[in-house]
Amino acid sequence: MHKVTVNLDKRSYDIKIEKGLLAAMGKEARKLSKAGKAAIITDANVDSLYGAKLQKTLEESDFIVERIVIEPGEKSKTLQTLGDVYARMAAFGLTRSDLVITFGGGVPGDLGGFAAATFLRGIDFIQVPTSLLAQIDSSVGGKVAIDLPTGKNLVGSFYQPLGVLIDPDLLTSLPKRYLHDGLAEAIKYGCIRSADLFAKLQGIKDDEELLANIEVIIKECCEIKARIVENDEFDTGERMVLNFGHTIGHAVEKYYNYETYTHGEGVGIGMVALTGKTEQLGITEKGSTTLIKDVLQHYGLPTEAVMEKEEVLKTIALDKKKKGGEITIVILEKIGKSRLLKIPYKDLTHYIG
Ligand code: GLY
Repeated sequence: MHKVTVNLDKRSYDIKIEKGLLAAMGKEARKLSKAGKAAIITDANVDSLYGAKLQKTLEESDFIVERIVIEPGEKSKTLQTLGDVYARMAAFGLTRSDLVITFGGGVPGDLGGFAAATFLRGIDFIQVPTSLLAQIDSSVGGKVAIDLPTGKNLVGSFYQPLGVLIDPDLLTSLPKRYLHDGLAEAIKYGCIRSADLFAKLQGIKDDEELLANIEVIIKECCEIKARIVENDEFDTGERMVLNFGHTIGHAVEKYYNYETYTHGEGVGIGMVALTGKTEQLGITEKGSTTLIKDVLQHYGLPTEAVMEKEEVLKTIALDKKKKGGEITIVILEKIGKSRLLKIPYKDLTHYIG
C-alpha cells in the first residue's frame, strides 16, 4: 500500500492507494470513524458496478449502510440534486456522529462532499474516488461544491475528508476516454512540478503499461497536490498553480456546452494554447509546447479546439478566477517549473492564441 499524508494540523489525513482496496474499505473506514451509520453518495454507473461490494464491506465492519444514488454526469451537480440528497440523508436518520462516503468521480465527490460539509453543519466524510481524475485531483484537498447555471463550482466549501481511499483496480472498468481524461491532469502535475513525472508519462508505451504503473503515478500526483494544499489550503496563492491550463480549458468546455470536451481534454487544450503563447513571448523554455503536445497526443488527447479568440475571452470574463481588473494565470518557465503571473485583464488577449 502507498500512503500520502496531507498535513493540515488537526485536519490532517492519509490518502491510501492500493490495488484491491475496495474489499477492505469497511476495515479502513472503521479505523477512521466510530459511526453507526454510513451513507454512500454515488452515481448510477458506479453503483451498478461496485455499490453492493462497498455496502457489503462496510456492513462487515458494522456500519448500517444506505446508498444514495444520483444520475451520472455534471448535470447532476445542482442545487436540486443536493436537495434530494439532503432529503435522503435526513430520511436515513444520519446524525452528526455518522459518516458520509463519497463514491465515484468528481461529481459524487464534489456534491457528496458538499452535502457532508453542510448537512447538520458538517458530518465526517471519506472520499473513495473511482475515476483517475478524482483519484489524482478532485478527491484530494477538500474542495467540495455544486454548480450554478452561471458556472461550475460556484457554491462550495473547503471541507477536508477523514481520509481518501483509492483502489486503482476500479480504473479497469473506466472507458479509455475517461482514463486519458484523468491523465491530462497527471501531465499537468508533471508540467507544473515534476519533470521526472512528465518523463515517466512520456515513456509509457500503452494503456497496459500505464495501468501496470498506475499506483505509483497516482501516488506521485497525490504527493504533489498534498504539498501544494498544505502550503495554501484556501487557494489564495500557491494552490492556484493547479489551475495550469484551466482558464482556457474551462472556456473551451463551457463554449461547447460540456458536451464535446471532457475536463481533462479542455485542460490539455488550455496547456498547449497558453504555453504556445508564453513560449513565443520568451517566458517559457523553447520546445516546451511541442513536448506537451506530443505527450497529450500519445494518449489520444486533443491539443486544440476550434474557437474564436473573442469567444474565449468572453467566456473567461465570466469565470470566477477574474478578480476586479486583474486575472492570475499559471505559466511554465519550463517543464516541471511553473509560476503565477498576475496580469491586467486587458492584457489577457496577448496570452490567448
Ligand atoms: N482542483 C484544483 C484544486 O484542488 O485546487
